[in-house]
Amino acid sequence: MPERRQPSRAHVESPKRTVSIVGTGSYAPERILSNADLERMVETSDEWIRSRTGIRERRIAAENEYTSDMASKAAKAALENAGITADELDLIIVATVSPDMMFPATACFVQNQLGARKAACFDLSAACSGFLYALEVARQFIANGAYETVLVIGADKLSALVDWQDRNTCVLFGDGAGAAILRSRNDSHGIIATHMGADGSFESILSMPGGGIRCPITPENAHLRLNTIKMSGKEVFKQAVNAMLGAAHNALKQAGLTTEDIACVIPHQANQRIIEAIADRLRVPMERVFVNLDRFGNTSAAAVAIALDEAHRTGRIQRGDFVLLVVFGGGLTWASSVIQW
Ligand code: ACO
Repeated sequence: MPERRQPSRAHVESPKRTVSIVGTGSYAPERILSNADLERMVETSDEWIRSRTGIRERRIAAENEYTSDMASKAAKAALENAGITADELDLIIVATVSPDMMFPATACFVQNQLGARKAACFDLSAACSGFLYALEVARQFIANGAYETVLVIGADKLSALVDWQDRNTCVLFGDGAGAAILRSRNDSHGIIATHMGADGSFESILSMPGGGIRCPITPENAHLRLNTIKMSGKEVFKQAVNAMLGAAHNALKQAGLTTEDIACVIPHQANQRIIEAIADRLRVPMERVFVNLDRFGNTSAAAVAIALDEAHRTGRIQRGDFVLLVVFGGGLTWASSVIQW
């Protein structure tokens, strides 16, 4: 077992309140889309997908199952896990790039489904980094005393944004939602450090160029499917590794910890080879890295949230453990958090 370090001096001496995750939940749609199913849709093979990505299957939401529906189901599980009721929520943040509508915010749909009448609501757009961005926003609201109880959800229905004729992207993504309830607690357990970053000069390597006001979908451009995900896979791969390594090192430094102290690394679930490259460079054995992308594919903002919930519920993370979350996504955006569970 790695030797446990004390939290950093900066953390212990901070006058701010420690903010903890007091409950988690997740939801994945019932329908499974296997690699064999994809073989019947595009020119690909189970062997190619597994060896290049590590993905065996992904979950696909029903046509009338929206991002807010998945988000609400994950939220209900998190509320139950935390032992609190929806009317105790002060704020709901939904991290998503596949909102039900441009507006109102998906968080408003969730509020209505939960009956969380006193909660303020907004969405946050940081692609696959969204859940960690939202966790940090929530942490700040609680640490400064503005709110007591915040619900953070990462939810995406990328199956609705994927070009199902593009084998370069359609094999990668899946649908789902993960949620966490944050509150301050009277001990040192909680979110110790977070680093967030972005580089907008890489916007074109991973984006959905059409459907917004810059490029509306018209009868003339509809055939280009600009309202689907466009990605330069190799470039994203390279930038993802660099961004996640930098974010992890920054968060660890801020926490006064090293990877030796970390009981479990929960990375963004995009590609097994990206995860292995990160683990290798952080010098963390794969036994200490949580992976579930073989079953879910890349669920964007939901990925690390679903993984955190699974790691919690299956006992992979125990009270007192230091956990390192690290993500990247379109933008490019990246983030990393160190949490003492
Ligand atoms: N089945 C079979 N062949 C395929 C498939 C497929 N599904 N997709 C691509 N190929 C082909 C390509 O056309 C190419 O053929 P060519 O050599 O004849 O041109 C060949 O396989 C090799 O393609 P590469 O791009 O070299 O494959 P690579 O090893 O880079 O793997 C992959 C591709 C899996 C996309 C990888 O680059 C990757 O994972 N990149 C990161 C993607 C990512 O993480 N995206 C999510 C970002 S998070 C967010 O914000 C949503």
